[in-house]
Amino acid sequence: MVKSRTLFFLSLLGGLSSADIVDRDLLEYFPSPSGTYIPPKDPSIRTLLDVVKSRDDLSILAEVLSECAGFSEAFDAAASWSYTFFAPSNTAFKNTGAYFSTFAATPKGKWWLGNLLQHHYVPNSKLMVKNFNTTYTRFQTGTFLFVGAQIVDGTLVLNKVATATEADIPATNVRQ
Ligand SMILES: *[C@@H]1O[C@H](CO)[C@@H](O)[C@H](O)[C@H]1NC(C)=O
Repeated sequence: MVKSRTLFFLSLLGGLSSADIVDRDLLEYFPSPSGTYIPPKDPSIRTLLDVVKSRDDLSILAEVLSECAGFSEAFDAAASWSYTFFAPSNTAFKNTGAYFSTFAATPKGKWWLGNLLQHHYVPNSKLMVKNFNTTYTRFQTGTFLFVGAQIVDGTLVLNKVATATEADIPATNVRQ
């Protein structure tokens, strides 16, 4: 089926454009199309991307953001809404194990990485450590998944495994 479609394009378009189609894996994450709209940015605004890029312990995250089409632009936008992003640190990425490294290398890996980033994004609330206590509770992320949260020994712990090593880091949020 796949083969016959490729052949069909080849015979129709020939040369250059068919090479585009054949060279890309059908499941591969599509790069940003040229001419994609990017909102203008006020340089005085410290966006989420600025925060990520300013920290050495988030360098893997910065790399992942640049590889997944659209994420750098979205994270660099001046948000007019309240949000919370639980930034996976380099240590967190290194603890993901074989599943992460094998899947991330597949053609569908970037799509999966994009979803993983969204699992860490809460699009409608500024969650501060003070919003949680020792009673186990849950909040919902941008992908509708629920994440467990609880203060244990004075530290915010997510899903009973991940510790918030540093919390309440501000990024500019613009009122419009
Ligand atoms: C934790 O917070 C919830 C919701 O604000 C509240 O109902 C509960 O009593 C608090 N628990 C403790 C142990 O402070």
